Amino acid sequence: MEPPEDRPEADDEARRTSFGTLVDAERYDRLRPDHPDEAVDWLTGEPDGPLDVLDLAAGTGKVSRALARRGHRVVAVDPSDGMLAVLRHWLVESPRAQVRAVAGTAEQVPLPDSSVDAVVVGQAWHWLRPAAAAAEVARVLRPGGVLGLSWVVRDLRVGWAAELEALFGGEGLGGATGADEAAQGASARDLADAQWWPRVPLRGAVRERAAFPAAQRLASVDDVVALASTYSGLAVSRRREGLLQRVRELAASAARPDGSVLLPQVCHCFRYRLP
Ligand SMILES: C[S@@+](CC[C@H](N)C(=O)[O-])C[C@H]1O[C@@H](n2cnc3c(N)ncnc32)[C@H](O)[C@@H]1O
Repeated sequence: MEPPEDRPEADDEARRTSFGTLVDAERYDRLRPDHPDEAVDWLTGEPDGPLDVLDLAAGTGKVSRALARRGHRVVAVDPSDGMLAVLRHWLVESPRAQVRAVAGTAEQVPLPDSSVDAVVVGQAWHWLRPAAAAAEVARVLRPGGVLGLSWVVRDLRVGWAAELEALFGGEGLGGATGADEAAQGASARDLADAQWWPRVPLRGAVRERAAFPAAQRLASVDDVVALASTYSGLAVSRRREGLLQRVRELAASAARPDGSVLLPQVCHCFRYRLP
């Protein structure tokens, strides 16, 4: 079932703009999951060679850097200066990387018509206004171009990880400030349902979906708690301290003898190819 609304809830606005302010960008970059290379290749349409790729809602550029490592020429667009600052810092240290960081939004992409072969939106389509964003994607993509959406979430088939996901995703928060993914209903449960699709009004596009294992090793229980604080639902919750304590207990229950924690995760991917 596809969600009907084109506008995020009012409360979601505070969370949508929390990245780089309430959510610490460096902590986000250090602790949020990376996308597996196979997922990055799938999201860009499994190309034979380098492409021009727009990383939309790029944040700190986690996906941009993965794309650059695959040889693509990347433009990273995000409205948050705080998040882009992390990417810009990396660019200073990696002058040969073919990545350009540009301030902008998905609803008004600062790129010319027909200028990219692929658009990738990592962990963020739920923050965008789907009709306006899809219109911009259709404008900047070349004919035959590909839009790839991804979400990395905890693996719901593993008991403690499912409970952790409920806390990360905000299901435990209740009310309008619900799941990070709730603005357009992309909860971990939705993503795991093979019948579910995000709302992507791209006329004539052929859609496909795939999922890739994306387990993440965190050095300590403290790091899992710090990761939790990068999820906007927790960052803005009045029940933050209690929820973080529950995250700590869950992480401790899964900690290995060396103190590290392996988070079982899945990278859910959706791909739309234009005619
Ligand atoms: C959960 S982060 C995802 C960042 C990155 N793609 C990743 O995979 O780590 C969501 C990002 O969406 C950005 N964002 C929020 N509203 C946006 C909009 N209207 N247009 C573009 N980006 C937006 C935020 O600034 C934030 O960096």
